[in-house]
Amino acid sequence: MLAKQRGCGQSQALALFVASDKMGGLMPRGQGSCEVCKMRNVAVIGAQWGDEGKGKVVDVLARHFGCVVRFQGGNNAGHSVQFGGRHFALHLLPSGILEGQNINLIGNGVVVDPCALVAEMTGLEQQGISISADLFKISDRAHLVMPYHRILDQFRDTSPTQRKIGTTGKGIGPTYEWKAARRGLRFCDALARSGFEQRLRIELEQAQRVYSNVSELTTLTVDDVMDQVWPAIERLQPHVIDGVSFLYELNQNKTSILFEGAQATLLDVDFGTYPYVTSSNSCAVGITAGSGVPPRCIHGVIGITKAYTTRVGEGPFPTELTGSTGDALRVRGHEYGTTTGRPRRCGWLDLVALRYACQLNGYDSLAVMKLDVLDECDQIEFCVAYEIDGKTVTQFPASLHHLQKVKPIYESLPGWKTSTNTCKTLEGLPPAAQAYVQAVESFVSCPVDLVSVGPDRSETITRENGLFRRLGVS
Ligand code: GDP
Ligand code: IMO
Ligand code: MG
Repeated sequence: MLAKQRGCGQSQALALFVASDKMGGLMPRGQGSCEVCKMRNVAVIGAQWGDEGKGKVVDVLARHFGCVVRFQGGNNAGHSVQFGGRHFALHLLPSGILEGQNINLIGNGVVVDPCALVAEMTGLEQQGISISADLFKISDRAHLVMPYHRILDQFRDTSPTQRKIGTTGKGIGPTYEWKAARRGLRFCDALARSGFEQRLRIELEQAQRVYSNVSELTTLTVDDVMDQVWPAIERLQPHVIDGVSFLYELNQNKTSILFEGAQATLLDVDFGTYPYVTSSNSCAVGITAGSGVPPRCIHGVIGITKAYTTRVGEGPFPTELTGSTGDALRVRGHEYGTTTGRPRRCGWLDLVALRYACQLNGYDSLAVMKLDVLDECDQIEFCVAYEIDGKTVTQFPASLHHLQKVKPIYESLPGWKTSTNTCKTLEGLPPAAQAYVQAVESFVSCPVDLVSVGPDRSETITRENGLFRRLGVS
């Protein structure tokens, strides 16, 4: 038995239910949830530049799924989860691990720093979270982040002769470069010490020849690297499985799968603000390549956006507020990175970018997070078009050259000037807050089925008959 079959379809009420469609109308019976609506496997994908609150949404959904899968990125991610006065920060482990009963898989598309993963597991175990080999698995095809990748990442991002991206310094970019160059080391290469050491020697020597100017790299020895990584790899070996067969079996058994995106659409290596992006496909296109499930096994995609925008690191950010309003958002939203502690750049919601994310990911539903951070604003602005070289542009541009010239065109709505933390229903939100949420959904043509009004699991509002309710969230 692979995993207990769980998910939306188990609710008796839901099975009989005539579910609402995307825009709130009625759909015929048979398109509701789980076996009924065929939305058994669902993905959570960031719509902005990361840190939207994906961890919180995965936590809210996880108990309704049999398995949670990370499919890209590495420990550049930082997903915070809060419930019952407890706080957790996940970097490599899928956020479903906190739920304690579902299976959690690191897919082949994730790049794994073995030492960072073992440290994260140890920290969570100390917080009382069980991480047995039954509950946590790693694909044998996942690539390993090695110490030389980390060294190179940090060297490049601080070198005066190279473009500064403002990376997390975790070695993510170089590991994906190695993967594409067919020089990477994977978990399946690390089953026996001697074979792994042999491969490592070849790769390290080549790296030292190519990057002979990086002294920290040239002085590294195979023994140093083995001493650092081998104990961690050995510790992880019981968790390593064939991820493709595993997910195939889950799908055969109709066990529901939740795909947990890291980073976000505008950091995607193909569709983000290139070259100021991460090195993986962090929008929905990355799910199949990073997990090994066929495209037809992804039944729904949920987009996560803040009620405003943040970005950490360098790169274009059309609606960035560099003055006191941006500072106020940072303070109210505690906008400091979960992974690096860096202050996040803050600005108004960019609906041009959000509509691009909706179109690209095919979102079935949106979650609007951190609405409470706007509680004290007199007026709330949101960007509805760009002005570039005197022309009005409504599509998100590909080129950095254009993105750097964008002047945002704003509309605004009055603020609500009252606390939303204790609101439990959409109708219970102040009318001005409801108007803001409605403006967002009508601009991007996607229903907002979850509104988050605080970091805690309990500070979450779901729309009656919306996708979250149909997936079993009460
Ligand atoms: P992720 O990377 O997308 O999972 O997001 P992070 O966890 O890096 O950043 C989101 C931050 O906002 C975390 O500190 C969350 O605890 C917090 N958060 C999530 N939802 C809300 C909300 O509705 N209101 C407030 N005030 N904080 C929230
Ligand atoms: P989560 O999953 C926000 C940013 C970095 C940098 C760029 C490239 O928590 O939303 P990298 O280390 O990936 O090569 O850095 O991407 N970045 C993130 N920003 N949230 C993240 O993850 C991020 N992961 C990477 O700041 O600008
Ligand atoms: Mg984060």
